[in-house]
Amino acid sequence: RFSCLVWLEEVSSTQDFLKEREDLNCVVCAKRQTLGRGRYGRSWHSDEGGLYLSFPLQEELKDEQTLPLVVALSVCQMLEDYGFLTSIKWVNDVYVMGKKICGVLVEKLKNRSIVGIGINVNQRNFPQDLPATSMFLVSGKEYSVACVLFFLLDKIEVNLDLLKEEGFRAFREDIKKRLLFLDQEVILHTEPPVVGILKDISEEGYLMLLTAQGEKKVVSGDITLRGS
Ligand code: BTN
Repeated sequence: RFSCLVWLEEVSSTQDFLKEREDLNCVVCAKRQTLGRGRYGRSWHSDEGGLYLSFPLQEELKDEQTLPLVVALSVCQMLEDYGFLTSIKWVNDVYVMGKKICGVLVEKLKNRSIVGIGINVNQRNFPQDLPATSMFLVSGKEYSVACVLFFLLDKIEVNLDLLKEEGFRAFREDIKKRLLFLDQEVILHTEPPVVGILKDISEEGYLMLLTAQGEKKVVSGDITLRGS
């Protein structure tokens, strides 16, 4: 699947680089991004030291909902091989020691999707208002960004094949056991916000909340711990 790699010194966003090149079927990586972005139009802090990559998925994606979760799980597995303890903040963030270490962004275009991943590897500081951490900040060690990339691509490759063959049920338990805020009361930041206890992840990758009105399946949105 990943047979070609483009490694850039600097780019606006690896997502845009791929969006503008419809025929490029490569993993695109950059040392830094000047306009890195996250979900909901947020910006993604992209200083040197992090890993910023995107890749296209050409095949018809039945797994729009579950793909970010499976990619986040791949990041967890890679980080766990390095000795980190990880959690998945539904639907597409990876946390270590209560702080965000990775974000996943899946953008759907006409006939393909572009998967973007940002991992904080060697950064030593972040803007004060960002609850972010890096592999360096957690362990005190520096890592080869290229090795992190290759280990990650290995995990993603295996997991995407499995997703295709067996569907999301092959991952559900592995994701559930890493779910941040499991059995805790969370706020889903929708209009109006919803409060509930995070109980499970459904077969379709939805979040199952136990609210005062009963069980509720949530398709998308941001959650935070109630009272935090
Ligand atoms: C999020 O947390 O909302 C998702 C962040 C995704 C960031 C990555 S970095 C590589 C790729 N290029 C971008 O501009 N964004 C994604």
